[in-house]
Amino acid sequence: MVKKEDFMMKKTAIATANIAFIKYWGKKDEVLHLPANPSFSMNLDACFTITTVEFSPEYKKDTLEIVGEMTDEEEINRVSQHLDRFRKLAKTNLFARVVSKNSFPKSTGVASSASAFAALSAAAAGALGLSLSEKKLTIVTRLASGSACRSVPEGFVEWLEGTSSKTSYAHSLYPHDYWDLRDVLVIVAKNKKKVKSTVGMKIGKKTSIFYQARVKRAKVLIGELKQAFERKDLGKAGEIIEEDCINTHCVMMSSYPPLFYWLPVTFDIIRSVGEWRRQGVAVYQTVDAGPNVHLICEKDTVGKVLRKLERIEGVEKIIVNKPGRGVVLSKKHLF
Ligand code: DP6
Repeated sequence: MVKKEDFMMKKTAIATANIAFIKYWGKKDEVLHLPANPSFSMNLDACFTITTVEFSPEYKKDTLEIVGEMTDEEEINRVSQHLDRFRKLAKTNLFARVVSKNSFPKSTGVASSASAFAALSAAAAGALGLSLSEKKLTIVTRLASGSACRSVPEGFVEWLEGTSSKTSYAHSLYPHDYWDLRDVLVIVAKNKKKVKSTVGMKIGKKTSIFYQARVKRAKVLIGELKQAFERKDLGKAGEIIEEDCINTHCVMMSSYPPLFYWLPVTFDIIRSVGEWRRQGVAVYQTVDAGPNVHLICEKDTVGKVLRKLERIEGVEKIIVNKPGRGVVLSKKHLF
């Protein structure tokens, strides 16, 4: 029989994905999960994960269900390992049932690990009655997946590289309504990416002659990006966002074996963005470890960008994102 206390050990959280303007591509400490450089991102309000976690003595093992999608052993183990971090903090051995739902199915090719681990962390902590500070929650989330720690705080977020686990955390630089930016996410391929970021960045660190140079440059660029944000200077911010994107992809492409995340249509859009700017449309691009392109512009420019995109062949879907909030608990459970 389920006791009342057990029933209470259930919480649901919602977290958004994020797009990195200064990217995280490489760890300086694999064990502590410390990034080689600080990163800067924007939460994406239309790309989110809802996760319900329930701990109960009724459960004999951890289970994971992603609504409408298949899960594999590797994913279940990763979730279980992450739950262990919270079990340790709460001093419990209880197993959990985890049910998760993405607003953007995996089949869209948009990475869901950031929103998924941010939502899982908040729901697990809540379900176990742990009252962690936001900073502490970002630290624990970072251990599951680096970029996920940036989906915990609100709006525009910085993840500090730190020198220890305690000093490598994410915090909000600006709330979601600070600047009416948009991320027009152009989905060009629905396949799951072949080389996971965790593996790709390891290869890059070991083999790319540009790896260290890019890390050094990213540390300068993040300072400049913060200044551009202070002034809401899209021209400067866009230039910096594009530089770090190209630098990161140079590291990826010069790794051995090389990582070519772009498709011909990715390149087509990147080149077109430069042309559109010359025609007076203030839009900038960035691409994560996959072929989809994020077009960054201000709210009033979205219509023009969408019209320009009509002429590109190979666009499968477009998701327009506003700056998103941080992770929140919800009263509506998935089960
Ligand atoms: C290209 O956070 O997925 O999206 O920490 O190994 O889980 P792990 O890597 P992950 O890497 C994200 C890489 C990126 C850039 C970014 O989001 O900063």
